[in-house]
Amino acid sequence: MSNKLRLCQVADVKDGEPVAVYQEQMPALAVYNVDGDVFVTDNMCTHGNAMLTDGYQDGGIIECPFHGGSFDIATGAAKAFPCQVPIKTYSVTIDDGWVCIDQPEGSA
Ligand code: FES
Repeated sequence: MSNKLRLCQVADVKDGEPVAVYQEQMPALAVYNVDGDVFVTDNMCTHGNAMLTDGYQDGGIIECPFHGGSFDIATGAAKAFPCQVPIKTYSVTIDDGWVCIDQPEGSA
């Protein structure tokens, strides 16, 4: 059974305003509210050294602040050039008002 990692409170993530979360032993994460549904992806763009939480959320799409590339928040699929490599997504559970993802195998 995998442990859950609490990232932030659901109430802290507003639609259109992704939140950067830093956790030990995890890459930088981005938490999104898309029309009331919560999603988590890696925060670092797969094209360069940019944090997607510094970009622009448009519905279910997050646009990178650097070169105008974008990703589908729910699937991680690259949606606009120059992004071609999908962004990693995490399966989210809500626990007592907290946004949680599975703790990766092998971490404490
Ligand atoms: Fe994100 Fe280039 S760093 S599109």
